[in-house]
Amino acid sequence: MKQDLIVILDLGSTQNTVVAREIRDFGVYSEIHPHDITAEELKSFDNLKGILLNGGENRMIDGKPAEIRPELYELGCPMISIDYPQSKCAKQYDALPDSDILKKFVFEDCGAAANWNMKHFIEDQTERIRQQVGDKKVLLALSGGVDSSVVAAMLIRAIGQQLVCVHVNHGLMRKNESESVVKVFRDELHANLIYVDASERFLGKLEGVADPEQKRKIIGGEFIRVFEEEARKLEGIDFLGQGTIYPDIIESGTKTAKMVKSHHNVGGLPEDLKFELVEPLKQLFKDEVRACGVELGLPHDMVYRQPFPGPGLGVRCLGAITRDRLEAVRESDAILREEFAKAGLDKKVWQYFTVVPDFKSVGMKNNARVFEYMVIIRAINTVDAMTASVEKVDWDVLEKVTERILAEVGNVNRVCYDMSPKPPATIEFE
Ligand code: XMP
Repeated sequence: MKQDLIVILDLGSTQNTVVAREIRDFGVYSEIHPHDITAEELKSFDNLKGILLNGGENRMIDGKPAEIRPELYELGCPMISIDYPQSKCAKQYDALPDSDILKKFVFEDCGAAANWNMKHFIEDQTERIRQQVGDKKVLLALSGGVDSSVVAAMLIRAIGQQLVCVHVNHGLMRKNESESVVKVFRDELHANLIYVDASERFLGKLEGVADPEQKRKIIGGEFIRVFEEEARKLEGIDFLGQGTIYPDIIESGTKTAKMVKSHHNVGGLPEDLKFELVEPLKQLFKDEVRACGVELGLPHDMVYRQPFPGPGLGVRCLGAITRDRLEAVRESDAILREEFAKAGLDKKVWQYFTVVPDFKSVGMKNNARVFEYMVIIRAINTVDAMTASVEKVDWDVLEKVTERILAEVGNVNRVCYDMSPKPPATIEFE
C-alpha cells in the first residue's frame, strides 16, 4: 500500500512544518524537501500527487533568491505557490492560504486520497528498511527514550535479528528504567540486545566533578566511548539506526532556515567507524512517533513518557554526584511519578521531577537533631521547552508526596516546591 504524497518545497518559508502538519491532518501524507530538488528525484517518489512551493522571509540564499528548477513546471503535477514572486504556477497566493483553499488543492486539484495512517506508514517503512539494509546488520543505541524505542520496534518488525541493540546503563537512569528496557525489548520483542552496565565507570569519571557543563561533557563523551567499544566488538555491521525525528531535521537548519540548534544523537563516533544511517522516523513529528510506537505494540508508559535529559539524573543530583544523593534523587523521583500518576497528573503536566542539592539543612527526627539533604519538586508546563510555567499542583498531592519522601527516602529531612518559571530559571537545574 503506497500513500499519496504532497511535496512542500522550501523556498524560505518559516511555516513549512505548519503546512506539512495541516496536510497530514487532512489524512494526506506530506513531506518537506529543499527547493533545488531535481525532477528526477521527484519522479522517483511513488504516488506524488502535487507540489506546493512555499516561499517566505528566508528566501535569499547567499544573496540570491531561492528558485526551483524550471524543469519542475514540466512534470505535469498540480502546483500551487505561496509568497513566491517568481512563481509560474497557475495558482499563486501571497500568504499562507486558509484551510479550505489548501484542502481544495489537495483533494480536488491533486486528487489525493486521505490514506495516510500509521499502519500504512509502518508497512511502507518496513519495506524501505528491508530494501536499504538487505541481509546486512544494523546497530542501534537504545536509550529507552521514546524515539530510540520506536526506532528499535520498527527495525525489529522489519529485520528482526539483523538488528543489534546496545543499551548503555550510565547509572543515571530513573528507577527500574534499564530493567524495563531489557524486559520489553529482550523478553517481549525478542530483540538481539546487548546490555552494558557502565554505572561504576560513569560514577568513577564523575567523582568530585561539580561543574554542570563539565558533568554533561563527561557523561556525553563517556557514552560515545562505551558505545564505540561495543561497536568494535561486533563484526559485519554496516548500518547505524538513529532516532532522528522531523523537528531534529528542521531545527538543525534546512537550506533556507536559520540554524536553531545542532542536534547530537550518537554523533561523534570515530572516523574509522563508518556506518550508513537508517532513520525510519525522520519524517515524523513527535506525536506521530508516539502513535507509531503504539501501533508497533510498545507499552503506553514507554511511548508517552515525559522528556528525560540525556545526562539523566546526573543533572538533578546537583554539584559533585554522590551515591547517597543520587539514590535520594532516584527514589524521590519514583515516588513523585507514582503519586502524580495516581492523581492523574501524569497526563496533564508536561514535565515533573525531583532534584537534590549538595547542601544539608538542620532538622529533627525521633527527638534528635539531624543534618540532612532536601528534595526539590519541580512540575512545569510548556509547549516547546523554550519557556515554561509552573503547574499549580493540588496541595493534597504535594502533601502526600512530601510525606512519602520524608518517610521513605534516606538522608532527607526537607521537601520544597520550585515556583520559578522559565525564564529566568531553566527547566533543569544544571
Ligand atoms: P532546560 O533545562 O534547558 O531544558 O530548560 C529544556 C528541556 O530539555 C531537556 N533537556 C535535555 N534533553 N538532552 C536532552 O535530550 C539534554 O542534555 C538535555 N538537557 C535538558 C529538559 O529536560 C527539558 O525538557
